[in-house]
Formats: sequence, structure tokens, C-alpha cells
Amino acid sequence: MSHTESLAGVRVVVTAGPTREPIDPVRYISNRSSGKMGFAVAKAAHQAGAQVTLVSGPVSLATPTGVNRIKVESAAEMHDVVQQFISGADIFIAAAAVADYRPQQSAAQKIKKHSDTMHLELVRNPDILASVAALDNAPFTVGFAAETQDMEANARSKLMGKRLDMIAANQVGNKVAFDQDDNELLVIWRGGSKLLPMQDKQTLATNLVACIARQYRIAHSREEKQ
Ligand code: CTP
Repeated sequence: MSHTESLAGVRVVVTAGPTREPIDPVRYISNRSSGKMGFAVAKAAHQAGAQVTLVSGPVSLATPTGVNRIKVESAAEMHDVVQQFISGADIFIAAAAVADYRPQQSAAQKIKKHSDTMHLELVRNPDILASVAALDNAPFTVGFAAETQDMEANARSKLMGKRLDMIAANQVGNKVAFDQDDNELLVIWRGGSKLLPMQDKQTLATNLVACIARQYRIAHSREEKQ
């Protein structure tokens, strides 16, 4: 690892996994995220020397050694925990597949089947990544974009729209990416891009973290000169 790829002394917050949005005490809305990519990123950042906090939704993965893991369930909880830990952070990496919507109300008791149809009113969840990027003194902020079509164009519009420093885009659908051990990423920042070809998620995470570290160092040295 070169000096520019080291994260010694750097504080990193990573989100990972799915969120669960409660319908009642026994049911929820969620998605197929396994958390593998986020956990691999947290491990790689720790190996690069960073102090890592991993805010994770429910997954069946072991916490990487040396990483401080905080378990959450819903998007609202993930949002609150991220807000709590973000003030001291230098880099924020949002790898979680946060549910975009939650049921407007979570029933206090198990819902009984009274009729043939059922209506669930959903409301938008906070965008955790965009809210971190909008902070005064925001950390270096990295998002993920899972796209089924127009991957590069959609990723670039997320980079600009959410005011991110970097975005890692991947193609999804037909068993690609979700719950797989291999993945491919197109990493885009304002001044350039890099394709990290199909490889196992841990190697990919190590290469992504090296890429983040290089751009973080550049952004940081620019800030210090100002
Ligand atoms: N994200 C987040 N909080 C949310 C939603 C998304 O932090 N409530 C983060 C994810 O962790 C990921 C990125 O935002 O880094 C994904 O962007 P998003 O626009 O939510 O992607 P999609 O849900 O795929 O959006 P769309 O349906 O508009 O394509």
C-alpha cells in the first residue's frame, strides 16, 4: 500500500445491509441486500489503517475484526445512528440498501386478515447519504448506485444531485450483484473515473478503498491549502 492509499488516523463511517420497515410486530418490508459489499468495504478500510464504524441493517455476516459495528433495523434508526457518529468522521461510505419508503404506520398489534385486499400507505424515508453530503463540514462522501439501465448516466446524476464526492456504480438484475460473491464497479468522481473489473467482493472493496483514499487525500490537501 502506498502512502496515498493509507487511511492511518482517518475516521470512516460505513453503512451496510438492508433496512427493515415494520408493518406490524411480526412483518416488515425489506430487500435482498446481503451486506457483503459494505462489510468488505469496512474490513478493507480497517486494513488500510482507518478507525471504522459500521452501521448495519440485519445481515448474517460476522463483524470484521477491529471494526466497531452498530446494529440497526429501520432506515430511521440507521439515519439516527449515522447522525450520531458523523460529526467526527472524515469519510462516509453509504453501501446500505436503504428502503426508500416505510409504512406510514406500524400497527401495534399483529394485523388480522379481515378482507381480500389490503392497502399499505408508504411514506418516503430520509436519504441518509444526501443528508450527510449536505452537512456543513461534510466528510468525503461516497455513495453506491445500483442500476438496471443507463448505469453511467444515472450514477453521474446521483453524484451531482446528492452532492457526493464519489459514486461506485454497478449493474444489477438477473442475479448480478445482490447476494453474489463477485461484482464489478465503475467508480466516478468529479475529476475522473475508474473501472474496477469483475472480481471477488473483498478484493474489489480493497481496490475501491484505495481509490477513495487517493481522492480523499487530494480533496483534503486542496482544503488545507485554502
Ligand atoms: N441511500 C441512503 N439513504 C436512502 C436511500 C439511499 O443513504 N434513504 C444511499 C445508498 O446507501 C446508496 C445510494 O444512496 O449509497 C443509492 O442512491 P438511491 O438514489 O437511493 O438509489 P436508488 O434507490 O437505486 O434510487 P433510484 O430508485 O432513484 O434509482
